[in-house]
Amino acid sequence: MESRNKPDIATVRAYWNRLPGGGCVLEVGKKFEVGTPEFFVYYDQIKKTDNELFVSGIFNFDQYSGQKILDIGCGYGWFVKEFAKNGGVVTGIDLSPSAVELTNKMLNYHRLAADIQEANAEQLPFTDDTFDFVFSNGVLHHTPDTHQAVNEAWRVLKPGGRALISLYYRNVLLQPLMFRITQMVMRLLGMKVIGRENMAKSASVEEFVRQYDGSDNPIGKVYSKKEALQLFSKFKIVKTELHYFPKRFLPEAVRRHMPIWLHKMLDNNLGTMIYFDLRK
Ligand SMILES: C[S@@+](CC[C@H](N)C(=O)[O-])C[C@H]1O[C@@H](n2cnc3c(N)ncnc32)[C@H](O)[C@@H]1O
Repeated sequence: MESRNKPDIATVRAYWNRLPGGGCVLEVGKKFEVGTPEFFVYYDQIKKTDNELFVSGIFNFDQYSGQKILDIGCGYGWFVKEFAKNGGVVTGIDLSPSAVELTNKMLNYHRLAADIQEANAEQLPFTDDTFDFVFSNGVLHHTPDTHQAVNEAWRVLKPGGRALISLYYRNVLLQPLMFRITQMVMRLLGMKVIGRENMAKSASVEEFVRQYDGSDNPIGKVYSKKEALQLFSKFKIVKTELHYFPKRFLPEAVRRHMPIWLHKMLDNNLGTMIYFDLRK
């Protein structure tokens, strides 16, 4: 996996510094200036709807009151805010200074506190066995050495502690034959999403997935379950779940009329992210 994408950490930092929060900011940032109260309110609505309907069960925001939580790659800080709101003692790190700034702004807006630091997931500035819960949502597939970052997550977790880490998943639609059909359908329907207009023309699955968070995103690796399990071999695996069927890639009319049960079914079977619920 590691040899597919070679940009270095400085290139990754520069990209995310321009775009803290990634793909969602591409869309929300078109409507509201990033970091304004309107931005936080709108973002909150999107995240709440998505998470409450589909993934909240695995996040368990309310089960960490008083516990030390680390959010690796906190982005614009939505998860930091949710854990802090529920009484968690939260540390958030991100490679990009603008993400640190945005997270602090979001915390101020919600009158919450957390320790937010600029740091690299591959070299965490914490001693061994520090945190009760290590969380990382949609981050470690963007870093040059994902294996090193996973080992760092393990190192800073207390023995018996929980980690919840998600990675881009090679779902059925991204299997070799299906991928060409997926792209053909996208082209036929004229499916384009802001900032990722070239996806339907990508030469490979890797190229396609790299663009989930923007056409210029330097790194976005995609994993089969078997490949990801190798990364997490130091951990005890409790369960895995698929989430985030990319509904936004569907035409507006289909999206609007899709019943929740169907969306949930697609989410659990054709999700673009695989979540690993882990213990040390
Ligand atoms: C798609 S965003 C996810 C943000 C947040 N976790 C969420 O789910 O909303 C990816 C984030 O990972 C951060 N990131 C990428 N590589 C990183 C690294 N090596 N160390 C720390 N953060 C990193 C980026 O700066 C960006 O903020």
